[in-house]
Amino acid sequence: MPIKRICCIGAGYVGGPTCAVIAKKCPDIVVTVTDIMPAKIAEWNSDSLPIFEPGLEEIVFEIRGNNLFFTTDGPKAIREADLIFISVNTPTKAYGAEKGKAPDLSCVESAARLIGKNASGATIIVEKSTVPVRAAESIAAILSAECREDGTSFQVLSNPEFLSEGTAIQDLLSPDRVLIGCESSEAGKLARKELADIYTRWVPEERIVTSNIWSSELTKLINNAMLAQKITCINATSAICEKTGADVSEVAKAVGMDQRIGPAFLNCSIGFGGSCFHKDILSLVYLCKQLSLDEVADYWQMIVDLNELQRRRFCQRIVKSLYGNVAGKKLAIFGFAFKENTGDTRESSAIVVCKHLLNEQAQLAIYDPKVRESQIIRDLQSPGCEFNSSSLKIETCPYEATKGASAIVICTEWKAFKNLNYQKLYDSMESGARWIFDGRNILDHQKLMETGFQVHCVGKALHLQNGRRSSGLTNGHAFPFHNGDH
Ligand code: NAD
Ligand code: UDX
Repeated sequence: MPIKRICCIGAGYVGGPTCAVIAKKCPDIVVTVTDIMPAKIAEWNSDSLPIFEPGLEEIVFEIRGNNLFFTTDGPKAIREADLIFISVNTPTKAYGAEKGKAPDLSCVESAARLIGKNASGATIIVEKSTVPVRAAESIAAILSAECREDGTSFQVLSNPEFLSEGTAIQDLLSPDRVLIGCESSEAGKLARKELADIYTRWVPEERIVTSNIWSSELTKLINNAMLAQKITCINATSAICEKTGADVSEVAKAVGMDQRIGPAFLNCSIGFGGSCFHKDILSLVYLCKQLSLDEVADYWQMIVDLNELQRRRFCQRIVKSLYGNVAGKKLAIFGFAFKENTGDTRESSAIVVCKHLLNEQAQLAIYDPKVRESQIIRDLQSPGCEFNSSSLKIETCPYEATKGASAIVICTEWKAFKNLNYQKLYDSMESGARWIFDGRNILDHQKLMETGFQVHCVGKALHLQNGRRSSGLTNGHAFPFHNGDH
């Protein structure tokens, strides 16, 4: 029986865009997205959607009320659905035993209970949230424990989501692949076909990949861990570059031309952020420890540790460059989102940088094109960050943020930052040395130095080229051909 009604539990960064695209591509299927947060559902039903994603508004405003609905009435949406996506959050546990280590699956459990209690007839349950291996087994057990209605049956599929924020709509419209993990039984294969039949309306069949459920669950964790590892490789390289005069962009370009490596995800940065990489690697580490694979756990843990180091090195460089003291100095922070084209700040490296600078008693003026002021305040008000209201200003204009500042700190790779008038910014800053710390290597550093800025970026020893040290091959960092201290 072809699917006629879909319900999605969780109206977040995955549930909202995914269902908008499915509803757009399948006008004959009614898609209802439900969430426990009434305010979020109200926003999905308003002119101001709760998340910013390029291309999302156009789709939602076109089809909302036709075959795309947002509701807080989960039980009804579940009862009517033939297929239900679980797209709830799966953060790292923030309480109790294994706090900061294990994945918190309480939302998955409550979604499964809600489904078990309310579903009716043969229903396909699709695990879209990122979960540990064998979570589908627990979901199936909860469903059958909660189910009271005769004639109701469940098939659980794993269909992890690979979209990236900022390009979610593009990723959903043209995914590299759609992965569906199913049971090897006939019923499992049939459920897989019904889900695949939805995707084949717009995804070429050869991009729909099948596996067993456990492989599918593990693939998602490994996919994220390998992407984060690639960024970590280049960030670790940047530390070597800064000490030797090698240029990380030149290294990344040449390495990325090796077809076995490829150029993507080799932009060095102040460390990766986002809601997924950090928590999914921790989940993988936890899984390895549970399986007594301690060395494998240590291997993946190192990515998280090196990411922290990258953030710390950047913060220390700012303070050290400003003569070891930023207290009372105004610093303009450009970018607060964890990456460009999103208003999401979860695990953003900008939070770490700003907290560090506030604790050093700097005066921050933060500008981000998409992040709401209330979000920035909430992110910085967490424990371990001390500041008073006069130390923090959220600006809506980069030129205003920079007036009287000693330094500009680029934290997010927004393209718009490239096109600002840096001469004008320079002229409006505090007199004396004026710094730019480009944490994303997006600016024209040569031009900035010609303007008069002291430029620091990631993975390039610009100060070595800046005339303050001798140039050429003899810059004092030659590799010693003896066992001396380097
Ligand atoms: P999110 O926090 O933006 O959204 C999750 C939503 O689920 C929230 O609105 C929450 O209120 C709701 N929810 C929680 N429990 C519920 C319940 N019992 N009933 C109804 N609603 C409930 O999270 P997200 O970023 O959309 O991520 C969802 C899942 O997808 C996570 O497992 C994540 O790892 C995975 N994922 C996220 C991304 C991404 O880019 N954000 C990409 C791929 C996969
Ligand atoms: C990631 C995965 O890419 C996606 O497949 C998965 O479904 C969810 O997690 P997302 O976190 O939205 O997506 O963004 P991504 O583009 O992966 O960037 C993550 C972080 O890495 C950002 O902070 C970004 O700025 C940083 N990054 C990315 C780098 O520092 N360098 C790069 O070369 C690429």
